[in-house]
Amino acid sequence: MQHLLGTSDLAKADAVDLLDIAEAMTVSGGQAVKKLPALRGRTVVNLFFEDSTRTRISFEAAAKRLSADVINFSAKGSSVSKGESLQDTVQTLGAMGIDAIVIRHPGSGTPHFLAGSEWTDAHILNAGDGMHEHPTQALLDAFTLRRILSDEPVSGPAEASFGKDLAGMRVAIVGDVLHSRVARSNVHLLETLGASVVLIAPPTLLPWGAESWPCEVRYDFDAALEEFSFDAVMMLRVQRERMHQAFFPGPREYTRLWGLTEDRYRRLPETAAILHPGPMNRGFEICAAAADSPRAAVLGQVENGVYVRMAALYRLLTGRTSEDMQ
Ligand code: NCD
Repeated sequence: MQHLLGTSDLAKADAVDLLDIAEAMTVSGGQAVKKLPALRGRTVVNLFFEDSTRTRISFEAAAKRLSADVINFSAKGSSVSKGESLQDTVQTLGAMGIDAIVIRHPGSGTPHFLAGSEWTDAHILNAGDGMHEHPTQALLDAFTLRRILSDEPVSGPAEASFGKDLAGMRVAIVGDVLHSRVARSNVHLLETLGASVVLIAPPTLLPWGAESWPCEVRYDFDAALEEFSFDAVMMLRVQRERMHQAFFPGPREYTRLWGLTEDRYRRLPETAAILHPGPMNRGFEICAAAADSPRAAVLGQVENGVYVRMAALYRLLTGRTSEDMQ
């Protein structure tokens, strides 16, 4: 593997291998000294052209836990505001000697473009490109779901999930699918791993052509709760910053029809897990009772994100697989 750009072209064996490397990394999290020497002397740049809390910090923590040097670049406060192009930014960073670029960019396809360009020969990791893909988020979600399927704690060291896929699992992804790179990456990855995905959204918040994606599509949340028995429900944030027109009548209407309200939360199967990529809009797409319940895996997802990103950096920069780690 040279780059990690998306999940639509990620082979099942590579996806399972990344999850298994992440499992091996969880052992380091429980130790007093959390650092591993694997990437000593390597340099990772976090190149963020969009706001981020957890993804940027998570990549930074992952690289540091592997002993890499980390350079954080945020477009705000850089020469980008003086009109510097992506080409010049990347070539400038390249001149300083870097091994990997973790990039978040509002333009869909930017990481793919960088990977195919001659501006850099660094490994490219997509940390979210516009409304396209967010592969490490989907991998951390798959990691968390695999734990749930194996009846293990959602985070921390465990063994039963090792080597497994998600066959037999049914997952609902609910909300603003249109603007969500998390949903796109999850649909592909979960399908590759053998799970069945049901997208639930207002018709206005589903992208054109979603009917041809490898999943089922439903518009009515209540009817879908009657029809399917979900093992997990992944709520999506309503991305109002990307909305330049009215996609639904108002927030109250949205919550009433597509929110994980207390009533819907109580109607979920008792064992169903609740996931959210964060940041959450409490009281809008998810009620506090669901977000704070013992079935919510949200903080476990954040914890697992560090291990999954350690796995991605480790696999790309060392070329080693989970087998080489044993
Ligand atoms: C997501 C993103 O930025 O795509 N957040 C994240 O990475 N944890 C989802 C979102 O912003 O709603």
